[in-house]
Amino acid sequence: MIGVFDSGLGGLTVLRALVARFNTVDFVYLADHAHVPYGNKPSEDVIGYTRDCVEELFSRGSKLVLLGCNTATAVALRRLQQQWLPESKWAAGHNVLGIVAPTVEGATQTPWAVTSPQYPQKYNTDTIAVFGTTRTITSGVYPEEIRKRCPKVTVVQQICSELAGAIEDKRPEAELDRLVREGVEAMLASNGNMPPHRAILGCTHFPLVEHLFRKYLPPFTRILSQPEVVADSFEDYLARRTNYLNGDERGSVTLLTTGDPQDVSEKARVFWSDVPAFARA
Ligand code: DGL
Repeated sequence: MIGVFDSGLGGLTVLRALVARFNTVDFVYLADHAHVPYGNKPSEDVIGYTRDCVEELFSRGSKLVLLGCNTATAVALRRLQQQWLPESKWAAGHNVLGIVAPTVEGATQTPWAVTSPQYPQKYNTDTIAVFGTTRTITSGVYPEEIRKRCPKVTVVQQICSELAGAIEDKRPEAELDRLVREGVEAMLASNGNMPPHRAILGCTHFPLVEHLFRKYLPPFTRILSQPEVVADSFEDYLARRTNYLNGDERGSVTLLTTGDPQDVSEKARVFWSDVPAFARA
């Protein structure tokens, strides 16, 4: 059983892509609605909440947890992988993965196994725009991971501090439209009004308003589908790590929230019409 975690509903965009890809794997998704949004919270809070949720998923039988959240990946993944997990009771046979590295691999077309810049990526001088929460952008993890693979790529980062919360709260389309327009305009202004070659929607909530990013980004800019590239990378990973699966998996999907299950189920249905009901974690 694979665990997928997000602060709220955004990680469902990743879960959906995984469920479509692995129809015999059991998934359990945990949304931390008690604390959403994470994007403007102090790092120590994000790390603590993420660790608690990963523990909850491990205790429910997941051996592998994917942080379907850019903010948690950017802020907490290294700490959890390098400090917490090796010293925890889950050290043996468990792992936590994030979604930033696979996204960067997709954006730079540099596969997972490549750790140093390869030809022709070494000479790639494209511009990649990254939109994310305050914590994701200020962590600098996207430019760091992109430059490891493509040192000549220009990365233009843009904080969209209110957008994930507004999507989570189901605010009116006009308000979401304004927040996306302002984010895109600020990104273009900081890049001398030059359109980027590619855009990473570096928050799992943002694919829910991809149509608005498409409306305001120049047609020249290709928007990367984070859920799809994460699913590609995860498929490759799982094929080599079947030990994280139990022999008797049947393709079940369990959705949990630390918030109000009825309210969360209703909100989720807006963008995933046949989503299973959430239960209280
Ligand atoms: N969906 C999450 C992300 O990918 C978090 C948004 C938030 O909680 O602020 O960053």
